[in-house]
Amino acid sequence: DWTMANFIDMEIDKIREQVGDRNVLCALSGGVDSSVVAALIHKAIGDQLTCIFVDHGLLRKDEADTVMETFRDEFKMNIIKVDAQERFMSKLKGVSDPEQKRKIIGNEFIYVFDDEAAKLENMDFLAQGTLYTDIVESGTETAQTIKSHHNVGGLPEDMEFKLIEPLNTLFKDEVRALGTELGLPDEIVWRQPFPGPGLGIRVLGEITPEKVEIVRESDAILREEIQKAGLDRDIWQYFTVLPDIRSVGVMGDARTYDYAIGIRAVTSIDGMTSDWARIPWDVLEKISVRIVNEVDHINRVLYDVTSKPPATIEWE
Ligand code: XMP
Repeated sequence: DWTMANFIDMEIDKIREQVGDRNVLCALSGGVDSSVVAALIHKAIGDQLTCIFVDHGLLRKDEADTVMETFRDEFKMNIIKVDAQERFMSKLKGVSDPEQKRKIIGNEFIYVFDDEAAKLENMDFLAQGTLYTDIVESGTETAQTIKSHHNVGGLPEDMEFKLIEPLNTLFKDEVRALGTELGLPDEIVWRQPFPGPGLGIRVLGEITPEKVEIVRESDAILREEIQKAGLDRDIWQYFTVLPDIRSVGVMGDARTYDYAIGIRAVTSIDGMTSDWARIPWDVLEKISVRIVNEVDHINRVLYDVTSKPPATIEWE
């Protein structure tokens, strides 16, 4: 009969048989799917797995550290971290169109991954965290036509790898259960959805390091307070966005002219439609006070009360 432990044993046998004494490459994003794939394959073949983790400089606060602590320090995996912030930032300079930004980030990801993979020898397989739902949905026109989605680990076209997709019979909740069984921390297993282009589509318009920092810091405060209030598993996604507007405020005796930040928090089943989350006023108040006090260049906090449709979850 089907249990998670049986599934793991069977998959491990399959992976060992498929891979033999060859090597597997994996693009690790720190998201649930790629993390579970990496942990599962590592359990099967250990050092024959190498992971590449691209830090595009658009990750959330402490995210890169969590990934490295989990996979390098605890799981003792071969993991190559690529610090590509400057590469991404220079490509994005002067670009403010949302679709253009998405394309640049998506393409650059593949180039960076490509460059790193080319330095490695004898890689025969590429592991991907494709889920059952990804296969089912890929034939249909979904949100892709509204925004060009990109996921880490898209297969570079000119690379000749055989694919390993051990999650392709599973649904998201099963992947989470598998991750927990494999010893991944809740922080990764219960991570909220995070778009491939990262904070890059939450700084509206042109991306600058200063603006990324504002989003990163305010997002960290939001996440901390949502977690403290025990709301993190009820809300599908919660994050901050920085529109390019400044407004007048007063702090102490001084007039300020600084940025407003938006809070986006939604409930959803699958991300296709969503409702804005009814975060209690007192929690919102705490978040607002902390953001204005602790994040430089913010003097106003806005709350997005739009559902999807007509709005999308992300602002770009
Ligand atoms: P929207 O903004 O289209 O988002 O309502 C729906 C869900 O998809 C996530 N999203 C992405 N996920 N790559 C991803 O892997 C992307 O490029 C991307 N863009 C949006 C979004 O966070 C939400 O969960």
